[in-house]
Amino acid sequence: MSVYKNIKKVTTNTLQKMKQEGEKISMLTAYDYSFARLIDQAGMDVILVGDSAGNVMAGHETTVTVTLEQMIYHAQCVVRAVNRALIVVDLPFGSYQSNSEIALASAIRVMKETGCHAVKMEGGEEIAESVQKIVKAGIPVMGHVGLTPQSIYKFGTYTVRAKEEEEAATLKKDVQILQDAGCFAVVLEKIPAKLSAEVTASLRIPTIGIGAGAYCDGQVLVMHDMLGINNEFNPRFLRKYVQLATQIDEALRQYIQDVKSLQFPNEQESY
Ligand code: KIV
Repeated sequence: MSVYKNIKKVTTNTLQKMKQEGEKISMLTAYDYSFARLIDQAGMDVILVGDSAGNVMAGHETTVTVTLEQMIYHAQCVVRAVNRALIVVDLPFGSYQSNSEIALASAIRVMKETGCHAVKMEGGEEIAESVQKIVKAGIPVMGHVGLTPQSIYKFGTYTVRAKEEEEAATLKKDVQILQDAGCFAVVLEKIPAKLSAEVTASLRIPTIGIGAGAYCDGQVLVMHDMLGINNEFNPRFLRKYVQLATQIDEALRQYIQDVKSLQFPNEQESY
């Protein structure tokens, strides 16, 4: 049983202690008030307002088109619902890659306009200067390496990253740089479990895995994926805890049938 279950507010310090004490960190994405409320009430440690909003909320093929304004809107909706979880918001593509001044300005906007607790950025050595500047300004930063969807057009595919020694060595170097730059945690996306075990053991800060095996300090999934909202998305790493697509479809068809057959509303449902 979790010793952190009754903690009033999860902070970056809480996550650090969880790593030290071997308690796994639970993290899930959210983009709106109603789901964020359920997720927080269930006791999730971290809620990520991910730029996967571009996929699951807006229907885009990639996260590349997501804007800072869109992230701010989703984060505002989530922040209103959450009492306990640490809320991390993705800085979207184009809001931090140009230079560290722009990165800091984007991070400040997100913090001031949403009331969230931290930002997340994709990349390794190339974002270290920006991470340093943002952390120095008092904003906690979560890193994200391995498969980084904002660079999908550079990689060309969503397959497992860092399978080869050279890419694995770069990743190992990158996470050390991110830790030294001040990141409080790092997401490892779609890398071999053996590599994530090595990386997790080598870092003081917690690692949060998605498709990175069981040895990370925590796990993250996209809410729509683990709730089974999309029948067509079935990667190996994904566990669907419920098949909501099927249940929602049944409910919708029943409603249509009830309306057409005058079964809804009945007398008790009328004034
Ligand atoms: O945007 C997102 O949902 C993410 C997670 C997949 C880690 O970055």
